[in-house]
Amino acid sequence: MISVASAPAKVILFGEHFIVYGGKAILCAIDKRITVESELVDSATIKIESDLGTVTISKNESIKNVDSKFRPVFFIAQKILQQSNLGIRISIKSEIPSGVGLGSSSACCVAAARSISGLFKKTSKEEILKLALEAEKTVFENASGADTTSCTYGGIMEYTKNGTKNIDVIPNFYLVIANSKIIHSTSDVVLRVKQFKETHAEEFSLLCINEASLIEEAINSLNRNDLKKLGEKMLVNQTYLHKIGVSNESLDAMIDSAKSVSYGAKITGAGDGGCIVALVDDSNLRATLDALSKYECFSTKIDSIGVKEITP
Ligand code: PMV
Repeated sequence: MISVASAPAKVILFGEHFIVYGGKAILCAIDKRITVESELVDSATIKIESDLGTVTISKNESIKNVDSKFRPVFFIAQKILQQSNLGIRISIKSEIPSGVGLGSSSACCVAAARSISGLFKKTSKEEILKLALEAEKTVFENASGADTTSCTYGGIMEYTKNGTKNIDVIPNFYLVIANSKIIHSTSDVVLRVKQFKETHAEEFSLLCINEASLIEEAINSLNRNDLKKLGEKMLVNQTYLHKIGVSNESLDAMIDSAKSVSYGAKITGAGDGGCIVALVDDSNLRATLDALSKYECFSTKIDSIGVKEITP
């Protein structure tokens, strides 16, 4: 039997970094997916094939000896296979660029949790999320669960450290994503922002207040499908991100190219590299892709499904 599942990537539309200090973020799942296929095999091994390489590991191997690239998926397989004498072959195919803030590792954990558990039983999204987050924490101990939640449920959501709330709109927009191809380290950038907060305490606390009201206005604009206003707020959010030092010349240049034609653009994720996101509809989609054509860029729609099983 073969079990196949896929999960979407995500972008942060508002609130990165400020969420670390108790703010709210707005997350969108997007229609770029990672697909995981799994099949039970007659040997006591866990084989993982992906763009990152292929490994075959004894199913009883200690998790700490597994290369971090494969560790979360190995963790899920090992945990589920406790109930079985068999081994497993897992194949991962991704449309999501990795290491640039689009949630590829979370999407992989979510799709793997669904695919592998699907070999044995039907599992709820809540259980998938729990297992995927546990797996992600084998490599990112402090993972907040924001990405895994977005990849599991899809749609647009408000996210705080205390939980999520769906923003129930039928989106009338696309998001154009451009990749700087500069790999960033989220933990390094988060640390730098912490230092900024310590050295500029008053300015940072004012920015947190401004970001919080900006996000409430953005939710309002989203609910009214007012793209002009929503785009303006993305540009304001970008000025805050600039102030806390997570933008750089390359990202600024990308945002400049996008902002004259789209409704608005900003960094998405930790910054320092990674991707920018621009808000568009049918009227300015082509022009925005053209304006960003010297970068790797693509248009996406909101994914409203989240993780799903695929009939092989
Ligand atoms: O680039 P990403 O997707 O890893 O974004 C991280 C978002 C931060 O707010 C910077 C950190 C966090 O844990 O929320």
